[in-house]
Amino acid sequence: MRTGKIIINVLIATTGLLWSCPAVQAGEIGMPDKPIIIGTSNPVEFDHVLHRSLDIPCGECHHDDGHNPRGNEEIFAIVDGKELHCKNCHNKDFANTFLQNRKDIFHTNCKPCHAVGINGNRGPRKCNGCHIKDR
Ligand code: HEC
Ligand code: HEC
Ligand code: HEC
Ligand code: HEC
Repeated sequence: MRTGKIIINVLIATTGLLWSCPAVQAGEIGMPDKPIIIGTSNPVEFDHVLHRSLDIPCGECHHDDGHNPRGNEEIFAIVDGKELHCKNCHNKDFANTFLQNRKDIFHTNCKPCHAVGINGNRGPRKCNGCHIKDR
C-alpha cells in the first residue's frame, strides 16, 4: 500500500503548508511571499504578506499606464514580477515631472495610509520605520 501512504503524506504536507500561511490564499502564487527590498542607496523593506493580511487590494499600489488599479486576479497571473516595477513608467521620461522621482512616488503611495491606519492599526511614519539603514 505504498501509493496510499505517499498520497496521505502529500495531503498532510499540503494541508500543513496552507495552515502555516493563512494570509495567503491558494492560487496566490504571483505575490512575493518574503519581504522585498525596494531601492539601493536608501533601501526600504516591504512585506506583501503583512499588507495582504490587511485586505489591501493589489491595485492600491499596482496600476496600469492609465492609472487604473490593476485587479488581484490579473496580478496573481503575472509570471515576471519585473513587469510591475514602478520605474517602468515612473522614470525621467514620465510626463508628470513630480512623479519621476522615487522618493515622491513612494512617499505619496505609502505614507497617507500609514497616517490614517486600518482598524486602528497605523503603519510606521518615522523614517527608520521603513528605511532599514536608519535603524
Ligand atoms: C501597499 C502597496 C502594495 C500592495 C497592496 C501590493 N504591492 Fe506588490 N509591490 C509593491 C511594491 C512597492 C513593489 C516593488 C516595486 C518596484 O520595485 O518598483 C511590489 C512588487 C511586486 C511584485 C514584483 C516582485 C519582483 O519580482 O520584483 C509582485 C509580483 C507583486 N508586487 C505582486 C503583488 C500582488 C499579487 C499584490 C496583491 C495581493 C500586491 N503586489 C500588492 C507594493 C504593493
Ligand atoms: C504602467 C505604468 C505605471 C506603473 C508600472 C506604475 N505607475 Fe504610478 N502612475 C502611472 C500613471 C499614468 C499615473 C497618473 C499620472 C498623472 O496623473 O499625471 C500614475 C500615478 C501615480 C501616483 C500619483 C497618484 C496619486 O495618488 O497622487 C503615484 C503616487 C504612483 N503612480 C505610484 C506608483 C508606484 C508606487 C508604483 C509601483 C508600485 C507605480 N506607480 C507604478 C503609471 C504607472
Ligand atoms: C492602504 C494602507 C497601506 C499602504 C498603502 C501601505 N501600508 Fe504599510 N502598513 C499599513 C498598516 C495598517 C500597517 C501596520 C500593520 C500592523 O501593525 O499590523 C503597515 C505596516 C508597515 C510596515 C511595518 C511592518 C512591521 O513589520 O511592523 C512597513 C515597513 C510598511 N508598512 C511599509 C510600507 C511601504 C514601503 C508602503 C508603500 C510601498 C506601504 N507600507 C504602504 C498600511 C499600509
Ligand atoms: C512608509 C514608509 C516610508 C517612510 C515612513 C519614509 N520613507 Fe522614504 N522612501 C520610502 C520608499 C519605499 C522609498 C523608495 C526607496 C528607493 O527606491 O530607494 C523611499 C525613498 C526615499 C528617498 C530617496 C532614496 C533614493 O535613493 O532615491 C529619500 C531621500 C527618503 N525616502 C527619505 C526619507 C526620510 C528623511 C523619511 C523620514 C522623514 C522617510 N523617507 C520616511 C518609504 C518611506
